[in-house]
Amino acid sequence: MRKVRPLFELRAPIADSDAVTIEYGGQTLHALAGEPLSSALLRAGILATTRSPKYRRPRGPYCLRGECGSCQVRIDGEPNIRACTTPVRDGLKVEAQNQWGPAGLDPTPIVDSLFRDGIDHHHLVVRPRLANAVMQRVARTMTGFGVLPDAASTAPATSHEHRPQVLIVGSGSAGRAAACALERAGIEALTIDRLDRRTLETSPGALPAGLLSGVGVFAAYPQEGLWAAAAAPLSTAAGDLALHIIRPQHVILAVGGREPMLPIANNDLPGVVSARGLVHLLRRGEVRAAAPVIVIGDGDHAEALAQELGAQRFASDEVRRITGGDTVDGVELADRRVPCRLVALAPTPAPVHELAAQAGGRLRFDGHGFAVVTDDVGRVESSEGGAREAAPWTLWACGDVRGWRGPAASAADGETTAAAIGATIRAELERAPSAGAER
Ligand code: FES
Repeated sequence: MRKVRPLFELRAPIADSDAVTIEYGGQTLHALAGEPLSSALLRAGILATTRSPKYRRPRGPYCLRGECGSCQVRIDGEPNIRACTTPVRDGLKVEAQNQWGPAGLDPTPIVDSLFRDGIDHHHLVVRPRLANAVMQRVARTMTGFGVLPDAASTAPATSHEHRPQVLIVGSGSAGRAAACALERAGIEALTIDRLDRRTLETSPGALPAGLLSGVGVFAAYPQEGLWAAAAAPLSTAAGDLALHIIRPQHVILAVGGREPMLPIANNDLPGVVSARGLVHLLRRGEVRAAAPVIVIGDGDHAEALAQELGAQRFASDEVRRITGGDTVDGVELADRRVPCRLVALAPTPAPVHELAAQAGGRLRFDGHGFAVVTDDVGRVESSEGGAREAAPWTLWACGDVRGWRGPAASAADGETTAAAIGATIRAELERAPSAGAER
């Protein structure tokens, strides 16, 4: 992908102690130690580092929070690493993937012009066999996610086992409110969040005392009684690799919501980002936008984000399409085109429901996504045939994972759920004091 004018710039010169260099496609880039790699690349005018696996559309950072996977790069020979959740450190060797060369020399437009109705790979060049083998090889090279690592990982891995009374997954408004309430009640809670501490500190409210940041849960295993989490799962293999095995009595899912895509043409062009992700990036205080931002979205949620970004906002039905070639160059309305290089989409977030579903929780469609179904205090209802009955924990959910409610209501939700868990634990202790004391 060719370089374009940077979308971000540093707020202050980099102090010598924080200055590092990284390599991208053979070029040396100067960066700030610890800043997200995607921020360093965007500051250098590198907006796209990969192409989509099927249609080979250029892809650059969208969510800026490790949720969409569109910022993937190859780092030190390891493919499919999210740039937005990888902190920069000196000497990183970063490469584009799924595209031919960092300059974006890509044959896709030629292929598109030759096969205007698309490619039916089941029938294309089936014979002679040799030609078919060549075609298959070209097709495999052009699609998919990166290529295999240069070598097997030699990073040392460790594992840690935790047995907290309560595991809280997510430390947004709901999670940190629940954690603080449990702490006040003297109940031992372990909070984990996939985002790094620096990013988490930019949101209002104190961080929980027992917080493991930069740790994402990748699975719940009800039959085995454990939740497994990995440290630095979204980061480079050379980071600290640690498996956390967690055996809780209660689990609170406070994983919040993520932005679905607004159905607007060219919503995937590099230069289109999530408004909420952009707010989080800018709150870190390392960079500011180097171009005016246009927010597209509806309602109070979008308006609040536009105000924080100091951006002009258009309702989603005002926008005919986002314009541009390899990157955004404007927004087309019914009566005019507004030039811009940075578009932030602000749809209502949809619940991050996957962990709840895997753990046997019931879901319902709420108009934006699949919300976790709970009772009034956050106890998760079991899905029909769900695995929850076999689980050794009680499953709770609070905040936006129950349906979008915003930070204030989510915090209240977290407190309600924590109070209910406190009451449950006290009741259990009263029923079986000796069993409780052994835990
Ligand atoms: S995962 Fe990095 S931008 Fe979405």
